[in-house]
Amino acid sequence: MCGIIARIGHGNAAETLLSGLENLEYRGYDSAGIAVQNGSGVKIHKCSGEVSDLKSSLESRPHGNMGIGHTRWSTHGPPTDENAHPHTDTAGDVAVVHNGVIDNYDELRSELQAKGHEFESETDTEVIPHLIDDYREETGDSETAVRRAVETLEGSYAIAAIVDGEEAVYAARKGSPLVLGLDEEEWFLASDVPAFLDYTDEVIYLEDGDLVVLEPDSYQITDLGGETVERSTDTVDWDPEDAGKGEYDHYMLKEINSQPTTLANTIEGRVQDGDVVFEDLPEGTFADVETVQFVACGTSYHAAMYADQLLRSAGIRTDVVRASEYDSMSGPVDENTLVVAVTQSGETADTLDAVRTASANGARSLAVTNVVGSTAARETDDAVYIRAGPEVGVAATKTFSSQAVTLALLSQQLAADVPDVSPPEDSDAMLESLDALPGHLETVLENSNAESLASDLIDSQSFFFIGNGLGHPVALEGALKFKEITYEHAEGFASGELKHGPLALVTPETPVFAVATGSDSKTKTNAIEAQTRGAPIVAVSPDDNPLVDVAEDHLTIPDTHPVWAGLLANVQLQLLSYYAADELGRSIDKPRNLAKSVTVE
Ligand code: F6R
Repeated sequence: MCGIIARIGHGNAAETLLSGLENLEYRGYDSAGIAVQNGSGVKIHKCSGEVSDLKSSLESRPHGNMGIGHTRWSTHGPPTDENAHPHTDTAGDVAVVHNGVIDNYDELRSELQAKGHEFESETDTEVIPHLIDDYREETGDSETAVRRAVETLEGSYAIAAIVDGEEAVYAARKGSPLVLGLDEEEWFLASDVPAFLDYTDEVIYLEDGDLVVLEPDSYQITDLGGETVERSTDTVDWDPEDAGKGEYDHYMLKEINSQPTTLANTIEGRVQDGDVVFEDLPEGTFADVETVQFVACGTSYHAAMYADQLLRSAGIRTDVVRASEYDSMSGPVDENTLVVAVTQSGETADTLDAVRTASANGARSLAVTNVVGSTAARETDDAVYIRAGPEVGVAATKTFSSQAVTLALLSQQLAADVPDVSPPEDSDAMLESLDALPGHLETVLENSNAESLASDLIDSQSFFFIGNGLGHPVALEGALKFKEITYEHAEGFASGELKHGPLALVTPETPVFAVATGSDSKTKTNAIEAQTRGAPIVAVSPDDNPLVDVAEDHLTIPDTHPVWAGLLANVQLQLLSYYAADELGRSIDKPRNLAKSVTVE
């Protein structure tokens, strides 16, 4: 979390830095700041709050052709003005922005304080400008000082630094993402591509141990030993329009509504003549696989649960593990284990840790991610992209659908490749019905009554979501989305579990959303048990599902294969959460305390 940006070139930097920070705000929005260098030194502007607060605090845009910027998700120290980045050394000559966590900051701070350095914040980051300053004193050279400083740091970092009187940006990364953007007239560094996508789509994904020096007309990448390293240039195929809000009030609504298009993109070319085709994973790729293990967090975990069930039904040994619990829950792995990291951002620390542990123990790894060049994509043996385009709303929506479809297709390939198993009997029907999915999504989006239902039920005490079979992950995802953006109490359960405890919470004030998509047998009975205790039931199902006859309300989905029906039900629940949060006036795109890309454990 936290987003950093740097820009150097001709013309003013401030506006570019500020708009870049707005595009990085999904990474944190506790505080924001920029430092701009001009003839009269390094000027810092920062405050607690969002980038919009920073913008309105500036009477005019500070002058200077180079600068750095930061948007923060607090780890060390609360979101105050003092803790906002950039941080400086005592004299204010070196300014630094940082994404990551410095583990040895306590001892470094004590050592630096003993040498006379004065600290102003509670952050771990502040040791970095002081360290650079200290090494500058010793070596007389800023690049060497930055190199020495990063060698001294333990933990994770992507940093960018500017130094008074020098026309250069110094940057380095270890364990946190950093991308270099190359335009004709200017260079950028940022935590993620949308920060500079309005200016350029030519990028270099930097690697751990890279140190970059940007000057107005040149850039240089070296390793920590000072040797030049060559990194290839990529062209990003995201449209800057994709990263904007368009005609919508919120990114989340735009992203929900974009799903017919994004899913068509996810699917394109991946089913040919009735067979699943992943360009980089030819037939037989998984012939050595005996066991599959999914690792993921949050929404991605729910998508992984979906795939886990599909593999089980094909007879493949499989497991799905919450990445944050991997150390205690993983069980043995070996070279015949395929560990699949499901991660939209490709940067989630818990997921990366889990997949690193699995790889160190001999497992083969595959990333299913949205972000080309992400750490997960680079560190795993293979990567499959979900092709959903940039997702800015903190609550994952379109990427869940694209993950689930990609994983369903991957399950087909695994079932075809893994010896002694074969795809389930209805696989052909499932693949044939996939073409209709974008159209079915449009039907849901055009006809949904989620807005009026949200308005009717919004005063309820708690909101429960149940489902079994493939409806179970959908119920969990529905509840996660609801609590995340409405701040109301919501829980998801396997339908049959309701009677084993949660039923004690059920009253006429607790609507139960029952996901029934055709692959489930128990949900109607369990919904009736809740209804008997007074709970209003909302069926989330096709019209002909028997649950509809008993439910008080209905969020309808088109008739389709049960595998895709769950995704359509999920879109109804996304809309429900969105409209409930809107009615409550919540900060939908930036829910409190959260950030999109969770790069700390
Ligand atoms: C919820 C949400 C999170 C993420 C989780 C994993 O709406 O977005 O639960 O799914 O933080 O993120 P990725 O998929 O980037 O690894």
